[in-house]
Amino acid sequence: MLMKPFFMNLDFKSGALTPSDRVNVRKLSHMKGMFFDAEAERRTLEKGDPLIYSFSEKILPEENGHLQLATTIIYPGKIGDEYFMTKGHYHRRSDTSEAYMGMDGEGYLVAQTAEGDFEPIPIRPGVVAYIPPYWGHRMVNTGSAPFVFFAVYPGDAGHNYGDIEKAGFVRVLVERNGKPLLIDNPKWKKG
Ligand code: PA5
Ligand code: NI
Repeated sequence: MLMKPFFMNLDFKSGALTPSDRVNVRKLSHMKGMFFDAEAERRTLEKGDPLIYSFSEKILPEENGHLQLATTIIYPGKIGDEYFMTKGHYHRRSDTSEAYMGMDGEGYLVAQTAEGDFEPIPIRPGVVAYIPPYWGHRMVNTGSAPFVFFAVYPGDAGHNYGDIEKAGFVRVLVERNGKPLLIDNPKWKKG
């Protein structure tokens, strides 16, 4: 029996995908050690556990030929000087690609290869970024409002957080004199 075509509604402001099947919530406690300033992380967690981002997904078959659809909302804020961001990941099937489209707010896509090539791309509403196979990817909210974006990727791509949870990205985005600045990540090492 073939799957039937269907549609969803996408709210560009809130990122809500309706109907979606799953909403995933990522608080600071889910991202231990991923912001480079460990002391700032500890101080923040003493006061509470801020919501960093959430993403809504439609559950579709994890099979070659299908696509996965998701919207993410990253809240504005910083841990120390480092802007709120997604964990970031490679795909479990590393030879698969992805497209991101900015819908509201502003930020950066940071992408890297295991060899340490690094590409930052500014994202605003209407910007569509293409992430080719083998590039790890993370989004960062460098604005003062929620940063909302849509993602499409192959059904069987999967997520591989392991390498990034250990070493992070080559460079990290911090606020300096009120503006975003990319600085080297002292923890990064080749995967
Ligand atoms: O598939 C994607 O790349 C996105 O939908 C992300 O999964 C989403 O933005 C959340 O980021 P992460 O998976 O890195 O926690
Ligand atoms: Ni992805």
